[in-house]
Amino acid sequence: MTKRIGVLLSGRGSNFEALAESVAAGRIPNAEIAIVISNREGAPGIDRAKTRGIATRVIPSKGLEREVYDRQVGAVLDEYKVDLICLAGYMRLLSPYFVAQFPNRILNIHPSLLPSFPGLESQRQALEYGVKFAGCTVHFVDENLDAGPIIVQAVVPVKDDDTEASLSERILKEEHRIYSEAVRIVLEGKYKIAGRRVLRVT
Ligand code: GRF
Repeated sequence: MTKRIGVLLSGRGSNFEALAESVAAGRIPNAEIAIVISNREGAPGIDRAKTRGIATRVIPSKGLEREVYDRQVGAVLDEYKVDLICLAGYMRLLSPYFVAQFPNRILNIHPSLLPSFPGLESQRQALEYGVKFAGCTVHFVDENLDAGPIIVQAVVPVKDDDTEASLSERILKEEHRIYSEAVRIVLEGKYKIAGRRVLRVT
């Protein structure tokens, strides 16, 4: 049966677009993106989804208590009967309520090799720290920020002449690749979770 993906975003939406491309190209088989939800009006990701003919909702989060907001989002995800939720540049921490509603069914992409550099401006944090390798992580989401068992990571070198922009661009290319890989693994169920470790099962 076709698995239904719900995407939550707040901005540009390039990771959403990469997932949509992978679904269209069969790299994520037997799946469709059922709904794209933004907590911000005017998020370019919403226009990208509309262009692709994918259903969209803007649910403004401003001023709403976390769980009150998450209940609204959860109701829409239920309405669209989603099997998997992909956070793609979604700039909100999820309430424990929301996480409990969708156990091991929420993924996030983060532009660092977690547990290094969680939070905002990870690429800048990596440059300032002086690491020689940076990267990105797809992980299951729990109620803590950028935590949860790691599904896939990719490493990129940091070059001496890198700026935040050039490093971000190199990382983003890998983000687009590994997010689809992780979604495929999870939707196919070819994994098991042992403690914090996500192990591949063939
Ligand atoms: C990406 O770098 C992602 O890792 C982070 O936010 C950024 C979103 O970019 N969580 P986009 O909206 O997917 O283009």
